[in-house]
Formats: sequence, C-alpha cells, structure tokens
Amino acid sequence: MKVGVIGFGYWGPKLARNLLELPGAMLEWVVDLDPARLARVKAQYPSLHVTHCLEDLLLSDVDAVVVATPIRTHYQLARKALLAGKHVMVEKPLAASSGEAEELVALADRLGLTLMVGHTFEYNPAVHALRDIVASGELGQVYYVDTARLNLGLFQPDINVLWDLAPHDLSILLYVLQREPLAISARGSAHVTPGIHDVAYVELRFPDNVIANVHVSWLDPCKVRRVTIVGSKKMVVYNDVQESEKIRIYDKGVERPFEADRLGEYRLTYRYGSIVVPYIPLSEPLRAQCEHFLDCIRTGTRPRSDGRVGARVVRILEQAERSLVEDGARLPITSNSTGARSGPPLRERPAAYHVQTHGPNGRSALAAWD
Ligand SMILES: NC(=O)c1ccc[n+]([C@@H]2O[C@H](COP(=O)([O-])OP(=O)(O)OC[C@H]3O[C@@H](n4cnc5c(N)ncnc54)[C@H](O)[C@@H]3O)[C@@H](O)[C@H]2O)c1
Repeated sequence: MKVGVIGFGYWGPKLARNLLELPGAMLEWVVDLDPARLARVKAQYPSLHVTHCLEDLLLSDVDAVVVATPIRTHYQLARKALLAGKHVMVEKPLAASSGEAEELVALADRLGLTLMVGHTFEYNPAVHALRDIVASGELGQVYYVDTARLNLGLFQPDINVLWDLAPHDLSILLYVLQREPLAISARGSAHVTPGIHDVAYVELRFPDNVIANVHVSWLDPCKVRRVTIVGSKKMVVYNDVQESEKIRIYDKGVERPFEADRLGEYRLTYRYGSIVVPYIPLSEPLRAQCEHFLDCIRTGTRPRSDGRVGARVVRILEQAERSLVEDGARLPITSNSTGARSGPPLRERPAAYHVQTHGPNGRSALAAWD
C-alpha cells in the first residue's frame, strides 16, 4: 500500500519511520510547506518524493495519506485528501471543531474511505491492560479517575494546553471506561502567553456517578504521565513515565460497615493488600497505530479510533474550552452527530463571556464559536 505523509515537523518523522519499517507499507511522498524540512527528508530518505505542493501528493497513486500538521490545518488537508479518493489518518485531535470533525466523518462515509484519528494511546499495550482490568470487574465499582499529563513545555503558539495534551487523556478515558461523559467543567489559566492557557483542570461526569479529573500543564517542573483509577475493591495506577512496570494494581481500600457498633459509630476498615504488577508486552504504540490503519484499509474494517471517536473527543474539547471561558461552568456533553454545537445557545452565556482564550483556529474562542 502506497502512503504519503503531510507534515514533517516533530511528529511526522516518527510516523514516516514507522511507515517505512512496516511490511506491506510503501511510504512514497512527504509534503511540507517548509523547504528546510523537505531537505531533511531528502537527506534522510533519498528515495522519497518530496514537495511543498499538496496537489502533487493528491494526484499521485498513493492509497493513503497521514496528516501530521498543526491542528488548524487538519480539516482542509483531510477533506482534500478524502475528495481525492485517499484513505486518511489524521493526528490527534481530528479537527479544530466538532462541526469540522463531523463533516469529515460524513464525507469518509459517503466516499467509502477509511478515516482514522491518531489516538496513539488506544494502541498502547498498557492502556489495553488498563481497559481489561476495568472490564474484568477486578477494581469493583469505579469511583473516580485522575489523570495528569504535566511537563515544562513544549508551548504551542496557536493552541492551548487543552487541545495539545488533553486529547490523549480523553481518548484514554473513553476507551478504558467505555462510557460517554455527560457533563464537563474546566478551569485553567494562562501565565506565559496571554490568552493561551498553559494549565487546565477538567472535570468530567460519567454515568454511574463516575467522576474523572484531567490535569494538563506545560508549566510543571516534573514530567508526569499518570492515570489513577480508584474502585470499590482495588485501585490501579498507570505510570507511563516508568520504563517498565507501568501498571500497578493495589489491593487497597476502605470499607464502611453496614451497621453502627454498640457505641453508634461506623468504624471504617482499611485494607492494605498486595501490589500486583502485570506483565505488559513492549511494543511501539505508533507502529501498532500505523499497522492498524493499513489493516483497516485492506480489510474494510472500521478503525478502533475511527472518525466518530475522533469527533467525540473534539466535542468534549470544545465544551471544555467553553467551560474554561465561562470560569468552570458545568456544561452538558451531547452526543450530537449532526455537527450542531452542543451546550446552551449563545444568548444564555454569562456576561463574562468576552474573556479570550485560544482554540486551535488561532482565533479568540468567541470568534471561533460565533
Ligand atoms: N500522537 C501523539 O502523541 C502526538 C505527539 C505530537 C504531536 N502530535 C500531533 O501531530 C500533529 C503535528 O504536530 P507536530 O508537533 O509535529 O507539529 P510541528 O509544528 O512540529 O510540525 C508540523 C509540520 O507541518 C508543516 N505544515 C504546516 N502546515 C502545512 C500544510 N498546510 N501543508 C503541509 N505541511 C504543513 C510545518 O511546516 C511543520 O513541518 C499535531 O496534530 C499534533 O497534535 C501527536
């Protein structure tokens, strides 16, 4: 299968390397607007065709295109590639708005082409293990989930930390919990670049009273990549920064007796049991993601992280950003697949709504939603 990559910045080279290594894939083209990046491709891979002109790629005989450019460009590039009859994988998040994302989903459906989003963590063996642990019931009833994705940088010039980092955690949450959030609220602040939030705390409410907190930051002294799930029977921590032993299952908990004792008190019992470290096979998630994309094209099956999953994450991000602007207002998340905006109509927004924040379109949030 012949493939082209659009965008050869930070992430594009990693995709290109994987596509070159995969049996059955032939990376043939790289497109980038920056001549220096194209020169780098030629120096590294002399046999590849390089161009700054998208049409060269779209008129070529490649079967599939991978988009690894800034978020604001995803929709136009993916749309053109689909209209040229190419299967498309777009790096996370799928698009800069739910309207754009849902249009891409509808277009791919209409043309019978594969549309996938690069939710890398859905191809990570540790996340698969996490999902199996939750699904097995080993944790008991899930009480809450806490995720933290923190580090110093890389600051993005045109999007805030939510759009940059939270797609990972949101896709993990949807994949592991197998539930859709009902409501969201988000708070954060912009310290370095005015109007561009560099730290955010997002709270999601899921059915069955499950609550999830997503903390993302470009302004933290420590690199943290952690998901904690607390259940009624056990607790699990997935620490992606660990070289090995990324998942630990703690047989810890607190129980409250059904009945009070003779003094009328409820004495809690604390359980401190073993810690189990399940074996997680080592494999590169990005390779699995690329392999899955090609397999889905070959077999005509729907990707695990297909366009619909991508659109769901974009819808959640949109509501999170809206809540950020409304200073943490709790907003509903509707499973709207028509492209219509979810949440309350504009006239119901509070007066403080003129606060500016920067979504992936590089415009103020107000402009983006109007
Ligand atoms: N899955 C992951 O873990 C992961 C990690 C990092 C980045 N990403 C995603 O990858 C994408 C790219 O991020 P990055 O960090 O590589 O960005 P980057 O800015 O480093 O690179 C983007 C490249 O795209 C090129 N470009 C911009 N507009 C273009 C256009 N219209 N046509 C062709 N080329 C164009 C730029 O010249 C640049 O070389 C983003 O969507 C980002 O969210 C995913």
